[in-house]
Amino acid sequence: MPDRKTLLLTGASRGIGHATVKRFSSAGWRVITCSRHPFPEDCPWEAGPEDHIQIDLGDPASTMEAVAEIRSRLKGGKLEALVNNAGISPKGPEGERLSTLTTDLRDWGKVFHVNFFAPVVLARGLRVELAAAQGAIVNVTSIAGARVHPFAGAAYATSKAALSALTREMAHDFGPLGVRVNAIAPGEIETAILSPGTDKLAEALPLRRLGKPEEVARTIYYLCSAESSYVTGVEIEINGGQHI
Ligand SMILES: NC(=O)c1ccc[n+]([C@@H]2O[C@H](COP(=O)([O-])OP(=O)(O)OC[C@H]3O[C@@H](n4cnc5c(N)ncnc54)[C@H](OP(=O)(O)O)[C@@H]3O)[C@@H](O)[C@H]2O)c1
Repeated sequence: MPDRKTLLLTGASRGIGHATVKRFSSAGWRVITCSRHPFPEDCPWEAGPEDHIQIDLGDPASTMEAVAEIRSRLKGGKLEALVNNAGISPKGPEGERLSTLTTDLRDWGKVFHVNFFAPVVLARGLRVELAAAQGAIVNVTSIAGARVHPFAGAAYATSKAALSALTREMAHDFGPLGVRVNAIAPGEIETAILSPGTDKLAEALPLRRLGKPEEVARTIYYLCSAESSYVTGVEIEINGGQHI
């Protein structure tokens, strides 16, 4: 299939990433995935295991090695989309929020490697393939990047704020290559990352419910499709009105 589009998606094994791979696969895209665990046997999409790269994005050297591996799998071809979705949000030993006073600096650095530096390394490393496709990058930020959140820690929040700023910088720098760069900022989405107590929080939202991973996946798909061909440098809130 010479015209088949390709997506590189980080963190595809669960939650928002899992819904995203399903959305793109159902539209006929090839999806190359990256995460720490091997490809799960019960995972239903076509060509999944062959197109999975097992990698810890918290390790800068392996992330750079992964770029070489991804480029070889693309065989000098095009990359229509890069979705930087993998993210971590560490908690304390009792599941408590880690603040600016209580976050170990090494943990803070690890969060930045996964949530912030990996997107930079991947986007820069794949710019030739992205430009060849006139492709799109979507960075997955968070509502926690813009306001203090009751459960998300300081390292997570600051990494997402930085990723939001990175989206603006990259939109400026990649635009002349014909590559669009946008972000989506989810609020409370039903996934494993959520803390106990989120249900209560959702009851006070304008839409009175948690979001679904598929609802986030549809917006990511929009930002990678021709429907958004003149949209770059924006961050779309997907949060049922939580930001208002
Ligand atoms: N759920 C929400 O309500 C919400 C709200 C705001 C923002 N977000 C953001 O949305 C994104 C997805 O969230 P989610 O809730 O779907 O998360 P999730 O269920 O915890 O999944 C995280 C994904 O990232 C991968 N990952 C984690 N650490 C990694 C590492 N060091 N290297 C490579 N892959 C790694 C995981 O796979 P492995 O375990 O195999 O590595 C997994 O596929 C994240 O960026 C998160 O910050 C989520």
